[in-house]
Amino acid sequence: MNRRSLLAGVGGLLAASGVASSGLLATPAAADPVSRPERDGRVEALLRKMTLAEKLGQLQLLGNEADARTALATGQLGGVFSVVGAAKLNALQHIAVEQTRLRIPLIFGLDVIHGYTTNFPIPLAQGSSFDPAVAGADASVSAKEARRSGIHWTYAPMMDVTHEPRWGRIAEGYGEDPYLATKLAVSKVRGYQGDDYSSPDRLAACAKHFVAYGGAEGGRDYNTVDVSLQRLHNLYLPPFKASVEAGVATVMASFNTISGVPAHGNGYVLHDVLKGSYGFRGFVVSDYTGVQELILHGLAGDGADAAAAALPAGVDMEMVSTNYVQYGQQLLAQRRITNDQIDDAVRRILLVKFKLGLFDRPYVDEAGEVKAPSPVALAAARQAAGRSMVLLKNDGPVLPLAKTVRSVAVVGPLGTATYDLNGTWSGLGTGAATTPPVTVVDGIKAAAPGATVTYSAGCTVDGADTSGFAAAQQAARAADVTVVVVGETAAMSGEAAARSTIDLPGVQQQLVAAIKETGKPFVVVLVNGRPLTIPYLHDNAPAILEAWAPGVQGGNAIADVLFGTVNPGGKLPVSFPRAVGQIPIYYNHENTGRPADPANKYTSKYLDLESGPLYEFGFGLSYTTFRIDGLRLSDTRMSSRGGRIQVSAKVTNTGGRAGDEVVQLYLRDPVATIVQPVRRLRGFQRVTLAAGASTTVTFTLTPDDVGFYDNAAKFRVEPGKIEVYVGNSSAATLTSSFTVT
Ligand code: BGC
Repeated sequence: MNRRSLLAGVGGLLAASGVASSGLLATPAAADPVSRPERDGRVEALLRKMTLAEKLGQLQLLGNEADARTALATGQLGGVFSVVGAAKLNALQHIAVEQTRLRIPLIFGLDVIHGYTTNFPIPLAQGSSFDPAVAGADASVSAKEARRSGIHWTYAPMMDVTHEPRWGRIAEGYGEDPYLATKLAVSKVRGYQGDDYSSPDRLAACAKHFVAYGGAEGGRDYNTVDVSLQRLHNLYLPPFKASVEAGVATVMASFNTISGVPAHGNGYVLHDVLKGSYGFRGFVVSDYTGVQELILHGLAGDGADAAAAALPAGVDMEMVSTNYVQYGQQLLAQRRITNDQIDDAVRRILLVKFKLGLFDRPYVDEAGEVKAPSPVALAAARQAAGRSMVLLKNDGPVLPLAKTVRSVAVVGPLGTATYDLNGTWSGLGTGAATTPPVTVVDGIKAAAPGATVTYSAGCTVDGADTSGFAAAQQAARAADVTVVVVGETAAMSGEAAARSTIDLPGVQQQLVAAIKETGKPFVVVLVNGRPLTIPYLHDNAPAILEAWAPGVQGGNAIADVLFGTVNPGGKLPVSFPRAVGQIPIYYNHENTGRPADPANKYTSKYLDLESGPLYEFGFGLSYTTFRIDGLRLSDTRMSSRGGRIQVSAKVTNTGGRAGDEVVQLYLRDPVATIVQPVRRLRGFQRVTLAAGASTTVTFTLTPDDVGFYDNAAKFRVEPGKIEVYVGNSSAATLTSSFTVT
């Protein structure tokens, strides 16, 4: 499907709504109180005037201008997506508002995933920040740019928890942990929507993909997911539940099956869980042709069947395929769907349109369209990228580089990359292609103006040609230090971008070996959209900086970290396997009855590989060092009914420069009726400390933190011991315990 432009553009209006402790934009609180249009009866009044055809029309979402115009001619269109440009959008809106009988405005959607014109780092990178304000800053900047350009609704945040680094869409979410994903997702929902998404600087958000999309077998996109109820509720659903509580306007169904029933026809997840137990009052949009795909899945025999499965299950709006509009009337006559089901879907869509203020202000001011990132937006993107980088290794230490360095050789195919630094879903906004991301070479030149900076690609990202190695080696020999920039192109992650191996593609690893051969100091910078299997780098490169796809300010942000202007403080939101054969490998796994023991053959491990990941979840280094000690619990017992325990620890910067540490709290329930993960993240706090300084970090635990869902989807808080671990990764060793009574 060739339906989206690739390039990022420029454009940006940004007004800080406040400054969070991290220095990024603050995200206002949101909620989902009963809204004005519900109270004053406008939705119901409009619904009563609508014909069946008009109602079905509201359920239709189309993805291009020509189709939209055709549908508008019969008045059967609820929304349009992937069309950008204020004038174009206004032109479509004029037809809807002036030429259709009931003058119902269209809703305009777009995949504003990590930026409209100002690309922030990819969401997986944002997960590494362990700082919800980073996701919030992305969302507030994006919302302002997109809404002022005529977009009302973004298909974000993506909050699919996954254990699958082969899956390209791991780049779009926050990694393997439901707690971390929840905190980031909620902050992003709030950043988009604010307190009131009718505001000219806000968007309606869309929690996607509902649900368990990250469980794709083999990491192959769109693939089958078979999941137990307990895992569905403990692993995949928490970010969605929290987003509904935070007032998210819409939810998108996912392409996968869930235990044999495709999400688009899955009444359990959509109707019972989302709209029933979570009380979601917004609307559910299908994914791209997701209703139609029920036929190929094997749930429906034809389009009428597909509509008859999806609407009652809870899909309110159909994206791209047209089965609701085509077969709605027939299905109603055959009593395969009901008037109530249609009314419920229409009501939900109208409600979001009212809440967006579209009935009062359907048009956007074309003069205010955003076509270029503002300096404030660029600064926020640069800061977010710096906070999202993870230092994986630093022997020597080689890093940070001195700003007075005389010569730097930049080597590697991504050293002058532009749009690849944006990663997947980059800048679909207006003004595309005018502002390519800052390259690593340019970032380094700006950071060390006195240095001679050379560039030699050495090879391409995925080719087999090594003829450029000699020149790269020569450049390395001539320089004080070499920065090797390797990884993946933007197209190697994201949708429909699964990889069966996750090594450095092509001959890039050999390029690193060739640079090592020179005997000169070097550092490796990784640009990529997923974890990679890099034991070779770990064993051979003196320093490794995981930069992910850092966005429009990528080169500057990388240079900020390389030269120590920013001391890296990011932590991995996902485990890095040693080899692809270990996948799925994740920190929050259950124990077997025979946990891995190198001394005992009959334990759970591979014959040919060391157990455990190369880098564990939560891991990341700094240019300074920290000590975490003084673990204290406010009590030894917690009542399962409303109890509370405060866990505190002291963190001290024991090194010679200011830096950030992420203090992480993990719990384990060693005896439970459903075996519990060996560890579960239940708290994190990123703190900045001057050299020698210390602070006390406190977490509050409640029964919500110690309970879990069972296989009847019932939340249980069981009496017994809970182990507490505090430290700076999922391998934390500081420990204590309390008892739930
Ligand atoms: C993706 C969604 C996206 C939609 C609209 C689909 O292919 O799965 O994440 O929002 O397209 O572009």
